[in-house]
Amino acid sequence: MAIVFLGGGNMAAAIISGLRQRAYETNIVVSERNSERCAFLRQQYEVETPLHLPVLCADDVLILAVKPQDMQEACRDIELNGALVLSIAAGLNVETLSRYLGGSRRIVRVMPNTPAQIGLGVSGLFAAEGVSDDDRVRAQDIMQAAGMTVWLDNEAQMDAVTAVSGSGPAYVFYLMNALQQAAIAQGFDEQTAYRLSLATFKGAVLLAEHSAASFEVLQQQVTSKGGTTFAALEVFRQHQLAEKLGEGVQAACKRSQELSQTLG
Ligand SMILES: NC(=O)c1ccc[n+]([C@@H]2O[C@H](COP(=O)([O-])OP(=O)(O)OC[C@H]3O[C@@H](n4cnc5c(N)ncnc54)[C@H](OP(=O)(O)O)[C@@H]3O)[C@@H](O)[C@H]2O)c1
Repeated sequence: MAIVFLGGGNMAAAIISGLRQRAYETNIVVSERNSERCAFLRQQYEVETPLHLPVLCADDVLILAVKPQDMQEACRDIELNGALVLSIAAGLNVETLSRYLGGSRRIVRVMPNTPAQIGLGVSGLFAAEGVSDDDRVRAQDIMQAAGMTVWLDNEAQMDAVTAVSGSGPAYVFYLMNALQQAAIAQGFDEQTAYRLSLATFKGAVLLAEHSAASFEVLQQQVTSKGGTTFAALEVFRQHQLAEKLGEGVQAACKRSQELSQTLG
């Protein structure tokens, strides 16, 4: 049994790194067209990088990790021989992937996010109807090398998970940057403002993780009526910051649907 990656870019490397850190026993093979990248992957992760995709068998897992626009060409001539397929490509639905892969429906779609690079990602997983319970366990086991996993009940939720956790790290960095800029506006130098923002986000995330309370309750615990935090939150409420965030997620979800239609 082998795990075979088609495409050895950033996201593939993140998953491979996680698998290696967990001392995952399975043989890992990467089919990557960029020779410099191949040399890096061999040196960094001790994977095989053959010139051509190896002959697959039903015990193998093929992970499709090329950009969506490269997928059709990359899948041309693949003989799956019954292998389980995991696709991390955004916007390519089971119907389209199945068409690219000669009709196979033993496909799990996966939407990871960039904290996968340090094993702290979260991936949404959706299994097509040709996927067995054992396949689900294998898919989940592989993706847990990159962080947490969440199974989705229907494929439409892939667009929603793309909008929430797939794009989500960018929203968080946006807010971190905004807090840094606000600190600079209060007179701190750039480096101090960076550290204040980073440590605040990190501390708040870890506090939430260690607490049984909801985000709302944790927020109330630092907000006394008429106090400083209250004053800031009043401004956020007036400007409907939470609603704007919701609208942003909605726009990302709609864009994901549009891209799926275009790619399909
Ligand atoms: N990065 C993210 O945050 C993220 C999150 C969720 C999902 N994804 C999905 O993950 C997939 C990969 O993204 P990425 O950021 O890792 O992309 P990437 O860094 O560009 O990696 C793709 C790699 O595949 C290579 N490639 C393309 N066609 C090939 C072929 N026919 N045979 C062998 N290798 C081929 C590319 O080579 P060239 O450089 O020569 O093109 C590149 O090295 C995408 O489908 C994306 O939608 C990414």
